[in-house]
Amino acid sequence: LILNISATATHTIPSTLYGYMWEDINHSGDGGLYAELLQNRAFQAVIPGTQNALTAWQPFNGARLSVTSKTSGVSPSLPNSLQVQIPQVVSGPIGFENTGYWGIKVQSGWTYQGSFYAKSATFTGAVTVSLKSAQGTAFATKALTGITTSWKKFTFEFQPSVSADNDENVFNVVVDGKAAAGQNIFFGMFSLFPPTFRGRENGMRIDLAETLAATQPSIWRFPGGNNLEGTSFDTRWKWNATLGPLEDRPGRVGDWGYPNTDGLGLMEYLNWVEDLGAEPILGVWAGISTANYSDLTTWPVVPEAELQPYIDDVLNEIEFIVGDSQTTDGGKLRASLGRTEPYSLKFIEIGNEDTFQADSYAAYRWNAFVSAIGDRYPDFDFEFIATTLPSTALTPAYQRIDFHMYNSPDWFTSNAFMFDDYPRNGTKWFIGEYAVTSTNDTNALGDIPSGRLAYPTLQGAAAEAAFMTGMERNSDVVFASAYAPSFQHIKNYQWTPDIVTYDASRLVKSTSYYVQQMFSLNRGTHVLSTTPVSSNDTTPLFWVASYNNETDVVFLKVSNTGTQDLVANIFLVFPSSDLDLQHPLAHLH
Ligand code: AHR
Repeated sequence: LILNISATATHTIPSTLYGYMWEDINHSGDGGLYAELLQNRAFQAVIPGTQNALTAWQPFNGARLSVTSKTSGVSPSLPNSLQVQIPQVVSGPIGFENTGYWGIKVQSGWTYQGSFYAKSATFTGAVTVSLKSAQGTAFATKALTGITTSWKKFTFEFQPSVSADNDENVFNVVVDGKAAAGQNIFFGMFSLFPPTFRGRENGMRIDLAETLAATQPSIWRFPGGNNLEGTSFDTRWKWNATLGPLEDRPGRVGDWGYPNTDGLGLMEYLNWVEDLGAEPILGVWAGISTANYSDLTTWPVVPEAELQPYIDDVLNEIEFIVGDSQTTDGGKLRASLGRTEPYSLKFIEIGNEDTFQADSYAAYRWNAFVSAIGDRYPDFDFEFIATTLPSTALTPAYQRIDFHMYNSPDWFTSNAFMFDDYPRNGTKWFIGEYAVTSTNDTNALGDIPSGRLAYPTLQGAAAEAAFMTGMERNSDVVFASAYAPSFQHIKNYQWTPDIVTYDASRLVKSTSYYVQQMFSLNRGTHVLSTTPVSSNDTTPLFWVASYNNETDVVFLKVSNTGTQDLVANIFLVFPSSDLDLQHPLAHLH
């Protein structure tokens, strides 16, 4: 193959081209990016009295545990607490343990910040908290006194002097059996944080945050995905239930089947996006929830006549993000939570995958949200993103549209040119979710025996890279993209493949991760035209060339999706030049 790169720029590359779609799936947030170590820390979104309500908690030395709402909780938002009954006859320390998100990392040199609430009608003795190995070795211990009949918050620090060999460690809480015999003690709202990314309070797990930050994403689409929508209207992601003190966040059962603490809330996301130097793409709830996965067309839709409260809710959410801190209620609320400056917000996505309910989207939902936001914020240049297939039925006409694709390597390679013919009519694509998910061309979201990938593969990553050359070459119409989903806790997940896999202390970056990183870190400001534009059908080579006019660097991104080595001679061609073009600029194998 002979490839000529012209020094002529065809168009600029938007700074928003590469990034991620984010929602709590696979314990990507709770148990993942969000650094909290204790699972089920406040018994949120569980049914008192059930075994499930005790997820991640276990008795120690014979205490009887149950989750109850029969006594008042630590706050109106957290009605559930842990009732610990100490038997009449017991000796030695007795209590309970939290096993974390399938383990707890114990690291010497780290300071852990812990807290819990406790009360008892009768017990006034000490509560001893420890980080312990499964075999009972204590890495750090603190004794706390002062339990009374009403809820009281206890705080403590752990500074282990040795690291644990593995993650099979627990957070152990005990009282003296003799002193507490026959008594009840109630506990609520626990927390244990290791050091966090950039030292943010209530912040992110350092290794995972650094891994994402190392790809320098420029957009962050959140908070879902299906997890925005809720399995019912009432269990949708509610922006205002994710704000303020953790005691004020009720949590919810997320769409992916486990309770979300909402500790990673709207402000934490917006701060994180700033830390990344990225732009938010805010998904707002647009009147559907995910009910029945076997028939997506039956998902419930809010009738037009009942939509106004949800529109108001979105208007208030936007006011919270961008409103003036002196003159708007939303801005005042934000300022009261510590952030005076409005956050930057340009892209607002109306819903998620409304292709499945395209009729109501076109009939009233898209229009209702876009018009209301536009009317309320005439001075903001919000860009609205539609989530149906391209449709002339949308009024106002969409300018940006979100396209999702989970498919086989073959699909991604054979569609690497799909944007080349897209009309340059002013409308733009957001590739808001994409990944090679299967080798099965006819069932890309099936199970592993039928071809579904457990993890990204080199074949899949090369195919994604091929597709990405097409996105970048056509970045005059593709303004942003978001690999999805991003994270997977190896001990509990709902979706494969994912870009980074981890447990309580380790992580693995996938081939797809490195593709994202390579494309994102090597960014031009302009696409350069190449000749030929594409390889012929038998050469599985895909490329895009760009130039960065700030650093004066030419980039060539190439993906060989075949199984053989290929030889390509690369020439940089200037329109009129005395350069000797007989000698290739590069000779690629
Ligand atoms: O990325 C996983 C899911 O796939 C998203 O939640 C949803 O938008 C899509 O169907």
